[in-house]
Amino acid sequence: MVIITVFSTKGGTGKTTVTANLSAVLADMGFRVLMIDTDVQPSLSKYFPLHYRAPNGVVEFLLEKNDETTIRSTISNTIYPNLDIIFSNDVSDDVQVKVQNRPDRAFLLRSKLVHPYIAENYDAVLIDTQGSVGVIQDAACFAANLVLSPIMPETLSAREFISGTQDALERLAHGSIMNLPIPPLRALIYARDRTKDARMISEQIRKYFNSTLDPNKRLLTLEIPSAKAYKEASTLRIPVHCHEYTHSGKSSSARRQMINLVYELFPSIEEQKVECHLFGDNLENLLPEENTANLSAENIQNGAEDGSHE
Ligand SMILES: Nc1ncnc2c1ncn2[C@@H]1O[C@H](COP(=O)(O)OP(=O)(O)OP(=O)(O)O)[C@@H](O)[C@H]1O
Ligand SMILES: [Mg+2]
Repeated sequence: MVIITVFSTKGGTGKTTVTANLSAVLADMGFRVLMIDTDVQPSLSKYFPLHYRAPNGVVEFLLEKNDETTIRSTISNTIYPNLDIIFSNDVSDDVQVKVQNRPDRAFLLRSKLVHPYIAENYDAVLIDTQGSVGVIQDAACFAANLVLSPIMPETLSAREFISGTQDALERLAHGSIMNLPIPPLRALIYARDRTKDARMISEQIRKYFNSTLDPNKRLLTLEIPSAKAYKEASTLRIPVHCHEYTHSGKSSSARRQMINLVYELFPSIEEQKVECHLFGDNLENLLPEENTANLSAENIQNGAEDGSHE
């Protein structure tokens, strides 16, 4: 099972949109996907219509017993096959306060996600987080195999990424004392518009990543443009890959962008010519080698310059 936490300390960078659409495209490919909304503003919870609404949500998932009955009572089904959600019902920000002083707070999500019920029923768990620093965000990162961080190419977002998100991830290094590995980071240039400013900032972000020698941190080759398809799909409450199949003009369709995002996160899927049909492979084996120590800075740089799958 793969656990992807979508994280950035800045608000409004596209976390919820990426979580929803990446989850949906994986589900359409046949993987069984569970989304978890840990944001107190429950945008992901409202993103797709529900087929079945569970009596409980993320508060009970995090704070109540770690048994199958409790876990099942928190899982709702969206109207889309293979796509479930634990919705956020923490409107008063209660969990954050309740767990603040608990010694096991870093394990809060990890300890739940190792339950066999989750492992047996899901191939991927995608966790949406609130755009700030906090105990729950830390716990969500500690639970992940991969942290995906969207960065909007505008000065404030880029600065916030370099200071805020990076600092937050550095702090996670303390977890190594508790044998919690720091998950690899994949940053994604997100909602890039056509301005010269956005191009310059994107180039700076790329340079920054090329100059960091930490093989655990990489910037994806793919860039998601600012495009109305994403807003439209969210208004219609449908996955963007089902909304925009083709796109005239320079950039690719939203469908192609989402498939390319999957390809880049799970490179071995590429050969299988995935076009959103059911194909029962084990997602875990399709993740790139997580021990990226053999990736030299040069390889990372070449990777960044390769261009997209288009
Ligand atoms: N590719 C895109 N192009 C243009 N607009 C987009 C794109 N993706 C998302 N948006 C819009 O940008 C806004 C912010 O997106 P989103 O809610 O996903 O960000 P967020 O990081 O989850 O925000 P928050 O921190 O408030 O939870 C939304 O209005 C969304 O519709
Ligand atoms: Mg959000």
